[in-house]
Amino acid sequence: MRILIAGCGDVGTRLGLQLVADGHRVWGLRRRPELLPSNLIGLAADLTDPASLVALPRDLDQVVYIAAADQSTEKAYQRAYVDGLRNLLAATTSGRLLFVSSTSVYGQDDGGWVDEESATNPASFRGHKILEAERLLSEADRYTVVVRFAGIYGPGRTRLIESVRNGEAVCWDDPPLYTNRIHVDDCAGMLRHLGQLSEPESIYLGVDHEPAPDGEVKRWLARRLRVSEPSTAADRDTSRRRMSANKRCSNRRLLATGYEFRYPDYRAGYEAVLRQRSVTRL
Ligand SMILES: NC(=O)c1ccc[n+]([C@@H]2O[C@H](COP(=O)([O-])OP(=O)(O)OC[C@H]3O[C@@H](n4cnc5c(N)ncnc54)[C@H](OP(=O)(O)O)[C@@H]3O)[C@@H](O)[C@H]2O)c1
Repeated sequence: MRILIAGCGDVGTRLGLQLVADGHRVWGLRRRPELLPSNLIGLAADLTDPASLVALPRDLDQVVYIAAADQSTEKAYQRAYVDGLRNLLAATTSGRLLFVSSTSVYGQDDGGWVDEESATNPASFRGHKILEAERLLSEADRYTVVVRFAGIYGPGRTRLIESVRNGEAVCWDDPPLYTNRIHVDDCAGMLRHLGQLSEPESIYLGVDHEPAPDGEVKRWLARRLRVSEPSTAADRDTSRRRMSANKRCSNRRLLATGYEFRYPDYRAGYEAVLRQRSVTRL
């Protein structure tokens, strides 16, 4: 197959390398293609600049949109998700389009379960802008698949580990704050898998098997790192503010397609990250 990965950064490069190993011809589009490995075909383009998208490869079988905003501002989200996607839809007319979205499109905060059929009432401009991009897809005359990832972790994404290690972490315990996550290798694996299905659904949640209370994850990391366990957060106002992320995302629809997680829960995924770190420190 001929596959274009637009916004080919961390997840995109991992996906691209798997697709090349599968025997596909893969183009990686970004503003700095010199950062891509040599077995991906680099394409220098800016998704927010239609003029830079006029010479994209023809007869694509699949397009994967994984651009990320480079700042946490409404303007940056508008450019990366809405403007960029609109331009790419105009510049490529063929191929199934997989769009990487986020669980920030959900505003639920009561710790209950959320799935692909749940209402989308985002609590932040981030969720609003990503939902606006999803709506562009639903209006496009293309076979489109939306993948809503929860928090991505993995090699190089170790902020949580460091905060537990250096004693800055606190636990949002009362009531428990449910968090959802997916290892970066499973992000790539899941996109590869969905690209191979003959008739995928239009939306999938990209989360591992186990939504887990924030305090449980941090205390597990503390025991694993042999440092003091973080204490319960005392500031009730901050605690209430943090509750906006409190939900449990289900991966039942994804599992029904036969996808097998490499890291099915936070213990498996963080164990791998920590082992890799201890090896690279030697
Ligand atoms: N991080 C999380 O926890 C999380 C959670 C849910 C969903 N997601 C989503 O997951 C996706 C993958 O993230 P990632 O970690 O792979 O991000 P990443 O490593 O930052 O990659 C994104 C790539 O997009 C490219 N890009 C940004 N703006 C562009 C533009 N205007 N034109 C062309 N390329 C552009 C950047 O390359 P250049 O700078 O070279 O252009 C960058 O390499 C994103 O869509 C993100 O929103 C992330």
